[in-house]
Amino acid sequence: MFTLGVLVASLLATTPTPTTAATVSAAPAQTFLGIGGSGAWWPHDLFNFPDAVRQNLSTLLFSSTGLGLSSYRFNIGGGGVGVTNPVRAPATFYVSPGVYNFSADPQGVYFLQQAGAHGVPITAFVNSAPSQLTSNRESCGGTFVNGTGAAYGTYVADVISHWRSTGLMINFISPMNEPDDSFGSCGQEGMQVSANQRAEVITGLFAALQTRGLSTAVGILADESSSLSLATAEYSTWLPSVASKVAAIVHHTYDFPTDAAYTSFVNTVKALAPGKATWMSEICCSLGTGLGTGRGYTQGFDPTINNALMFSGLVFQSLVLAGEPHYDFWTLVSNGLGCSPLTSASCPSTPNSVGWNDGMIYYDPSYATNKNFALYLTKHFWTYKHFGNFVKPGSVRMPLTGADVREWMVAAATTTTYNLIMMNPNTTTTTITLAFPDTVCPVSAFRTSATEDFVTVAAAAKSGTSWLLPLNPMSLTTFTFNRRAC
Ligand SMILES: *[C@@H]1O[C@H](CO)[C@@H](O)[C@H](O)[C@H]1NC(C)=O
Ligand SMILES: *[C@@H]1O[C@H](CO)[C@@H](O)[C@H](O)[C@H]1NC(C)=O
Ligand SMILES: *[C@@H]1O[C@H](CO)[C@@H](O)[C@H](O)[C@H]1NC(C)=O
Ligand SMILES: *[C@@H]1O[C@H](CO)[C@@H](O)[C@H](O)[C@H]1NC(C)=O
Repeated sequence: MFTLGVLVASLLATTPTPTTAATVSAAPAQTFLGIGGSGAWWPHDLFNFPDAVRQNLSTLLFSSTGLGLSSYRFNIGGGGVGVTNPVRAPATFYVSPGVYNFSADPQGVYFLQQAGAHGVPITAFVNSAPSQLTSNRESCGGTFVNGTGAAYGTYVADVISHWRSTGLMINFISPMNEPDDSFGSCGQEGMQVSANQRAEVITGLFAALQTRGLSTAVGILADESSSLSLATAEYSTWLPSVASKVAAIVHHTYDFPTDAAYTSFVNTVKALAPGKATWMSEICCSLGTGLGTGRGYTQGFDPTINNALMFSGLVFQSLVLAGEPHYDFWTLVSNGLGCSPLTSASCPSTPNSVGWNDGMIYYDPSYATNKNFALYLTKHFWTYKHFGNFVKPGSVRMPLTGADVREWMVAAATTTTYNLIMMNPNTTTTTITLAFPDTVCPVSAFRTSATEDFVTVAAAAKSGTSWLLPLNPMSLTTFTFNRRAC
């Protein structure tokens, strides 16, 4: 033992080869489908902005010079009957059974068409049926009515069919957003769909899509439960009977699940609906750190790298821990600054306790009166840009293995490239030594930190047969490699 110890010590002293901290697997995990966010409810306001700003916003959202989103969630309005906040009361296309006004909601349609013009695939989602169909004849505070599944499905399928016929790639439809809540406070649209009613909603919509020849082109997403704990408790009521009619099982994560709870959720779905993917379709409004502490639904505006890394940690949890193929943040654009940018120049970049972390791009809540049409980007915008631009539909996750691998590192591969998005949520620099299963050549690297917004940094450097990926304190870096020799 003594001799071996001396031998190892002398080898270590004379051979500076670093230990391999991480290895990219050759066998893929899930295929990615999209990185996106929702078009609610900001289109109501942003439609009023000068056209140059609306164009800039569309570029910031949908182009690779911006977030590079590959998914946009279009909110099919319910008419906002009874909703007290006009911004959260989108008009409905529904007039009466079989009769529609597709000129309604020009605000929502404008940004829907912008997403389409940029080639971004679209999910449509519904917060409430038109008031004519709900239990209380309003767009909030009521419930889905038993026996109206066919009528509701017909309406939703007609709306999808219409917009698809104009060339828009609406590939998914979520017919009930947070059905666990009636939104009785009426600050927004909402319709409760009890767990025992959800199968009727899905059956009605599936039949209507089938009649229009759309049941394979447009996948039904369900049920957007607001938390994984509710989802886990309620799936057994409705999911098994309609699993074959559901394209994917989507959820929100407003309970900010631990890794153990998320894993338990994934296993519940595997048991109830084998082979169905789960994915994340809405989250916002948390403070906290990149290391995952302090998460929870709360008021408060933090535009700094702290919060941006906290949200990045949530993305990694869904993509890496849960192996989910798709991720949507909630609202891409928000006026929840909690301060007035014309009064205080530091407002959009300084945390406060009265705003909300529900956007990536912010605008002045007083724009209508003070004519401030500026768009304010938070660090969350810059970190999400890494996922939008480097986790592309059709690319596959290659799991990372090794003692130093953490949940907050992901490798997305195409046949020609690897993109490695690596977070360092700590306050000290660290360097990952990475090995690949095939020959690679470093191409580029981009970093976002407290002082950097997606800036170009040095590509990975070679070290023996591996590559060195330096991770600065409190940063998110993407390293791109070609899958060929240099
Ligand atoms: C359709 O909606 C538009 C926009 O709200 C409105 O101006 C128009 O009068 C509506 N048409 C009908 C037939 O209701
Ligand atoms: C609605 O239908 C479901 C499924 O048949 C049933 O379990 C539930 O009791 C019904 N609800 C009402 C309010 O009738
Ligand atoms: C778009 O908005 C961003 C964020 O406010 C700004 O930095 C950029 O200059 C704008 N670009 C154009 C072309 O207006
Ligand atoms: C950050 O610190 C945590 C906890 O000490 C550690 O597990 C992790 O490996 C560190 N990550 C990086 C990238 O330095």
